[in-house]
Amino acid sequence: MNKIKIEELKRSNSSDLVKILNSDTEIKLLKFTLENLGKLPSNFNGELFLPLCKHNNEKIRLLAIKNLGKLSDPQYLSFLSNISKDDCSTIVRREAISSIGRMRTKSAIPFLLKKLKDTDPKIVLQVIRALLVFKENNEIINELKKLKNHPNEIIQDLIHKEFFSEKKVVLEKNHADVTEKLKNVVVHGDVTEILKFVDEESIHLTFTSPPYYNARDYSIYQSYSDYLKFLENVFKEVYRITKEGRFFILNTSPVIIPRISRQHSSKRYSIPFDIHPLILSMGWEFIDDIIWVKPEASVKDRNSSFRQHRKPLAYKPNARTEYLMVYRKKTTKLIDWNIKQYDKNTVNDSKVLGKIDKTNIWEIDPVFDKTHSAVFPKDLCERVIRYYSFKGDLVYDPFGGSGTFGEVALLNNRHFFLTEINKKYFERISQRLSFSKNCKYFNYEEFQKWILQEK
Ligand SMILES: C[S@@+](CC[C@H](N)C(=O)[O-])C[C@H]1O[C@@H](n2cnc3c(N)ncnc32)[C@H](O)[C@@H]1O
Repeated sequence: MNKIKIEELKRSNSSDLVKILNSDTEIKLLKFTLENLGKLPSNFNGELFLPLCKHNNEKIRLLAIKNLGKLSDPQYLSFLSNISKDDCSTIVRREAISSIGRMRTKSAIPFLLKKLKDTDPKIVLQVIRALLVFKENNEIINELKKLKNHPNEIIQDLIHKEFFSEKKVVLEKNHADVTEKLKNVVVHGDVTEILKFVDEESIHLTFTSPPYYNARDYSIYQSYSDYLKFLENVFKEVYRITKEGRFFILNTSPVIIPRISRQHSSKRYSIPFDIHPLILSMGWEFIDDIIWVKPEASVKDRNSSFRQHRKPLAYKPNARTEYLMVYRKKTTKLIDWNIKQYDKNTVNDSKVLGKIDKTNIWEIDPVFDKTHSAVFPKDLCERVIRYYSFKGDLVYDPFGGSGTFGEVALLNNRHFFLTEINKKYFERISQRLSFSKNCKYFNYEEFQKWILQEK
């Protein structure tokens, strides 16, 4: 059997095709035929599909329903509606709704409205999609609006987007534009104070590695909850200043606070997992988790004594990974909308050419800096910048450290904005970026004046 043969059989409604479209036909042949029937002539005998819609094999049922739907014949509405109720497989039930939807006939409306009460959110979503075709019908709009508080979040979002989202006041700024006063600026001071002077929707991308709670010398917090509260405040501000639909990438890992003596135990804090729910509640949408893997030889050996005694419960793996959690500022718009905000040349020039990371496991060597104890490898910053921003964008690191992200931004034709509280690191940034004449360095008061002064 091949596609040309199927085409011939189909046109003639021949008895050979009747023989093939039979429950006893070998699955492979049946599947191939159903998959390749293509567009069906209006006089095609839909009855052939009915027994196959009840076949034991899920894939065959699915394909038979799909083909039955192609006929757009309202006489099968009730049959398809029963399948959407009774079949044991969600994908088959969904396909039945989809086939009803594709008929685009008003007589399908009562069947579809009934299915809005289905307990499977995937089915309800498919029903909504089918009903949205009849958007001019007030009865349907009212029924759909009732789903505003549906328990499923995807349904809620969809209904909100369709019927309740206010048209956003058009901002004066264009999406691709960069605020002149923030271009290649480093500010020495507390990020929570500095960000009060940054307008909303100014930043295209934020990539940062915050202080590691109290695990290093530069970060002293009274308690872990104080630390999380601090990060929460910073990331809320980052949300405000981020442009619609753009990304925030957070690099963290669990940390360990060493024991004070052999009689005590050390304490481990699961920073990425504890901060994640707080970030979601601000409105950031979770997009991806990327794992940064370091070579085994570069990380602290935690299991040397276990390797000797081998006693269970005392096992401690050496931690070779850190997380890059990828979030996007909530929007009803698709990524395509963001891309379309740029001119063709910028999109072309920003294409990520050459080797790309096919998986979420990025193997990168750590880097050691003589001034700073926890710096980003340039390679890590470069990947983030190239995957998540366009040339000419303004990218931000609230915890600037030694300025790695700023340097990589410049080298990749992006503009940067950095904030850093520690004078020593602030100076390291200016030394590091001395190759560029376009950078500006301010303390908090100077920055305030700079931003507030007339253009
Ligand atoms: C993990 S380091 C970032 C290192 C940086 N990614 C790099 O490549 O050099 C975190 C930085 O946050 C800075 N920091 C801590 N609290 C801050 C605050 N309230 N405002 C601004 N920076 C702060 C610390 O001084 C430290 O340099």
